[in-house]
Amino acid sequence: MNILVVYCHPSKKSFTFEIFSKLLEGLKKSNHQITISDLYEMDFQSDMNESEYEREGFAQVDQELPKDILLEQEKIQQSDCIVFVYPVWWSDCPAKLKGWFDRVYSVGYAYGYDSTRDKQVKMKKQRLGLVICTAGHPNEVLEEIGIAESMRKVMLDDRLGQRFENKQMIILGGTIDKDKVKENHLLKAYEIGKSIEKILN
Ligand SMILES: Cc1cc2nc3c(=O)[nH]c(=O)nc-3n(C[C@H](O)[C@H](O)[C@H](O)COP(=O)(O)O)c2cc1C
Repeated sequence: MNILVVYCHPSKKSFTFEIFSKLLEGLKKSNHQITISDLYEMDFQSDMNESEYEREGFAQVDQELPKDILLEQEKIQQSDCIVFVYPVWWSDCPAKLKGWFDRVYSVGYAYGYDSTRDKQVKMKKQRLGLVICTAGHPNEVLEEIGIAESMRKVMLDDRLGQRFENKQMIILGGTIDKDKVKENHLLKAYEIGKSIEKILN
């Protein structure tokens, strides 16, 4: 598959970076084409400016998109699968990744601006959307307090939505007690990378 990995963490000293590295190690074992959007490394602009907002808000689809957005959209057009890797911050992805959705999912590209004009949506349907996030709380706690469900709702049902044939969120929780979970999580990231097509229906 052609796999786009959208990675979002500011530090190479982080556990999320170790997970990202293990995932790549696994992916490279199979015959995949890998493209990476390392949002901090790219200094990706996450906030929408006034003219971008006006394009979205007033569905001015003829207004040209910024170059950085066209580049991200081109990466999506070339891919069959997108893997998102990030830490859970305040029960969601970091703001930079949220900004990637705000800006890259532009009107007429990822969603329609008129219910009769769905055909205007140009985003290539992806075979797989995989979300891998690290979290301080253990998974059981995130499930118990309803946050895991809310993260799945927002990320899988809304942001990935109908644009992906298969979708999965893997929460690598309990990093507050890193020594306890580290080995298992790193192995899991490697195995997911090595056999990513197993997630497909
Ligand atoms: C700003 C910030 C907010 C965080 N919010 C949450 C949260 O809402 N829920 C949670 O389980 N962990 C939260 N964490 C913990 C991170 O998810 C944890 O640091 C990450 O899983 C692994 O650490 P890393 O930064 O070394 O990659 C937060 C961490 C930071 C820095």
